[in-house]
Amino acid sequence: MTKGAMLYEGKAKQVFETDRPGEVIVRFKDDATAFNAQKRGNVDLKGEMNNAITTLIFEYLNDKGIPTHFIKKLDEREQLVKKVSIIPLEMVVRNYSAGSMAQRLGVDEGIKSPVTIFDICYKRDDLGDPLINDHHAVFLGAATYGELDEMYDLTSDINDILIELFDRMNIILVDFKIELGKTADGQIVLADEISPDTCRLWDKDTMKKLDKDRFRRDLGEVTEAYVEIYERLKKVLNK
Ligand code: TMP
Ligand code: ASP
Repeated sequence: MTKGAMLYEGKAKQVFETDRPGEVIVRFKDDATAFNAQKRGNVDLKGEMNNAITTLIFEYLNDKGIPTHFIKKLDEREQLVKKVSIIPLEMVVRNYSAGSMAQRLGVDEGIKSPVTIFDICYKRDDLGDPLINDHHAVFLGAATYGELDEMYDLTSDINDILIELFDRMNIILVDFKIELGKTADGQIVLADEISPDTCRLWDKDTMKKLDKDRFRRDLGEVTEAYVEIYERLKKVLNK
């Protein structure tokens, strides 16, 4: 397989063409940004860790019947995936209060929610990915109500599987963000990544943050947190 031109460059990843129809290469970078790229930096090993962690999690979800874009890991930084058109909605799930929701509602972080909370953000960097609702998403033509139903169901199933997986790693899945894409034949599948960049992960015993909040909030030991998640994941999956 040959790697072709770069099709897209985001804040943490690049996407390249291949000579295989309907398949593209995703390359994970060490670059880190936060607060809509107002804060920029570099986290050693992050690209390799996020590629490895996303690979293990997407393979695990695939085995549990979740459709994903993932095909295979190619090397330390790259994976081969199905080409999809990304639905411009970030699906956020919250099991505990934290981050922007804790701020918006004026509540402490770390309160367990009695219900699963779903937020949708409109993927528009120039607007700072604003929080929207289902009606806005339909107005924007990003999805139909029927597609939103399907997207919430898929997101909820992913949450159930991930809560249990992280629990076995002695980690609380506080919240996370996923992106969904449509394949050429119109199927909605999980795309992008699931990694410490896109989840809040707290150690159950110490409540230590093992995710990108260490970078966002200058807490130190950023690389160590990504490596710790990878090591615990490998252990519970016997990899
Ligand atoms: P938030 O509390 O900042 O809204 O973030 C909720 C979750 O979504 C958290 O796990 C981090 C993740 N997230 C992303 O993956 N990308 C983003 O651009 C933002 C703002 C959050
Ligand atoms: N990745 C996002 C950005 O750079 C935000 C974040 O993850 O906090 O804006």
